[in-house]
Amino acid sequence: MKKLMAANWKMFKTAQDAKETAAELVELVGELSEDREVVVFPPFTALHAAGEVFSQHEGYSFGGQNVCAALEGAFTGEISPLMLKDAGCTWVLTGHSERRALFGETSEQVGEKTTFALNNGLNVCICIGETLEEREAGKLEAVISEQLEKGLATIPDVAPECLAVAYEPVWAIGTGKVAGPEEIVEAHAIVRAKLLDILKGKANTTRVLYGGSVKPDNATQIIALDNVDGVLVGGASLKAESFSKIVTA
Ligand code: PGA
Repeated sequence: MKKLMAANWKMFKTAQDAKETAAELVELVGELSEDREVVVFPPFTALHAAGEVFSQHEGYSFGGQNVCAALEGAFTGEISPLMLKDAGCTWVLTGHSERRALFGETSEQVGEKTTFALNNGLNVCICIGETLEEREAGKLEAVISEQLEKGLATIPDVAPECLAVAYEPVWAIGTGKVAGPEEIVEAHAIVRAKLLDILKGKANTTRVLYGGSVKPDNATQIIALDNVDGVLVGGASLKAESFSKIVTA
């Protein structure tokens, strides 16, 4: 199973910046090692520009940061899976904690988007994770379980490589506070067990990524942990220099 090294560029970069960062990244990484795969999530307006670079390089793909559970219609401000595919995307993120916390997305909505995107031929990286308050109240397992049960409730029967789960503790996102190895191993074991319940045998080859303050100096340790099949990186993915070190960690 290849490790999936994912970059979430959030609401950063013009098309020109995205193209430059993409070009610098593939240059710095050089030949991608056999056991690595890279997926980058640029903002919508930079998909074409970044895609021009990534589509020329084996092992790289790109995707949208959000998707609507409809093909077309009167949904101002939304984007359809058809449009993402038209821009060359093969992936989409669903349920990022910023979508949940700042834009009120519920686990049910995340589930609808996940199912719809998979049904329409996109690979999905669904994001889950607890807040500090939930962790301190002993609700880690309950929160992750709820997000996975609702998020994957109606997904179609797809190949395991079409789905990835990113465990991102909300308190570790953009804060510089990375979860410790024991916390990551504990949470990933819960995710794997839950996936086994939901996806049965396919759960063993469904990639579970860790996200939250991943940096060049902690990436090697994190990706070597049990049940960690890659990383989802925000801040440290914006510069090609630091993300290239994570990709090759
Ligand atoms: P961060 O973001 O790496 O900046 O913590 C991760 C994410 O939001 O996916």
